[in-house]
Parts: sequence; structure tokens; C-alpha cells
Amino acid sequence: MTRPAGVPRVHEDLSEVLFDEEEIRAAVERIGARISEDYRDRDLVLVGVLKGSLFFLADLSRAISVPHQFDLVGAHSYRGVKPSEQVTVDKDISLDLRGRDVLIVEDIYDSGKTLKVVYDMVRLYQPANVEICALISKNVPREADLPVKYVAFEIEDVFVVGYGLDYRERYRHLKCIGALNPEVYE
Ligand code: XMP
Ligand code: MG
Repeated sequence: MTRPAGVPRVHEDLSEVLFDEEEIRAAVERIGARISEDYRDRDLVLVGVLKGSLFFLADLSRAISVPHQFDLVGAHSYRGVKPSEQVTVDKDISLDLRGRDVLIVEDIYDSGKTLKVVYDMVRLYQPANVEICALISKNVPREADLPVKYVAFEIEDVFVVGYGLDYRERYRHLKCIGALNPEVYE
């Protein structure tokens, strides 16, 4: 069967699978257990950054055994595989964060630009404290250094997709995290 024109392949477009479903599950469980320890008897609110953190947030929330709530913010800085200059916020927080223990949940800590915008925005709501949990931290020079307390995976400077991460809104549904073959975007 031939693919309709313009519809990309899926797994064939990865040059390498970096983390498979089982590794992701184990890492999320580990972080969930640490957060459950650290946030015992506190007033935890997870704030997920759309859309990339969606699956991570959903799995992490269920790996946390202490009571908590979650909310979502919409913020993004990427166009294709290169960061854009501007970070756009297109969905605000709706829960009251004042005096609460906020944990921002982001897909990837890259230059730090997106996280910095979300971090500053969350702090405007006067929470008691704000920490950050990133699924992936990229080993690149930062434009903004942030207190990222929990990281599931560290990677080199490759463009990755899957488990929520996209290239032009595709590949988010992959159960693994993989490096996108440069042929796809070059
Ligand atoms: P900054 O540079 O602001 O970038 O820290 C963070 C945002 O950019 C997206 N991003 C990626 N998305 N594969 C992706 O699918 C990547 O390798 C990648 N690196 C950065 C991501 O949405 C994140 O919120
Ligand atoms: Mg993206």
C-alpha cells in the first residue's frame, strides 16, 4: 500500500530509539516515588506545559501517591526544529496557586526560554514555592538557568520526538522517545 502524499512515516523516521516504553515507565515511576516522598503533607499542584508534557503529566500524576491537583499552561517557543525568538503563552492557569507548592512539569529543558516564561508567570500567582520537573534535559548552553529539581533523562543536542514531543505536531503519539532522522527536516 502506498502512503498518501505529504503523510510522513512514523517509526521509520527515527534515526534511533533513545528510550523505549519500559524505560520511560520506570523513569516516571522513580520520579513519582521521589515526588511522593518530597511532597508528603504539602499542598502539591502540578502545572503541565502544553502540549508536549501531556502524556508525561498524565503518567507522572498517576505515579504520585500523595494528594495533589494539576493544571495546564500553554506555552511554546519552537517552530520546526529550531527555537523561535518569541515564547507564546496561549493558555493561562485556572487553579488558585497562592501559598501552594507548585511543580512545573515540562517535556524538555532545552535553552530554558520556555521554562523561564512559565516559571516567571507561575511566580506571579504567589505560590509558597516553585520547583521544576523535566522529562528530558538537553546538554546545551542555557539562555536561562532554572532550578530543575527532577529530570528523567539527559540527552545530547539532538532533536527528539515521541511521548508527547512533536515535529510539526506529528510523532507525539509514539510510545518511545527517539531522535528524529535529520533527513525528515533537512
Ligand atoms: P527551550 O529552548 O525554550 O525549548 O528550552 C523548550 C521547548 O521547545 C521544544 N523542544 C523540543 N521539542 N524535540 C521536540 O519535540 C526536541 O528535541 C525539543 N527541544 C525543545 C519543547 O516543546 C519545549 O517546550
Ligand atoms: Mg513542540
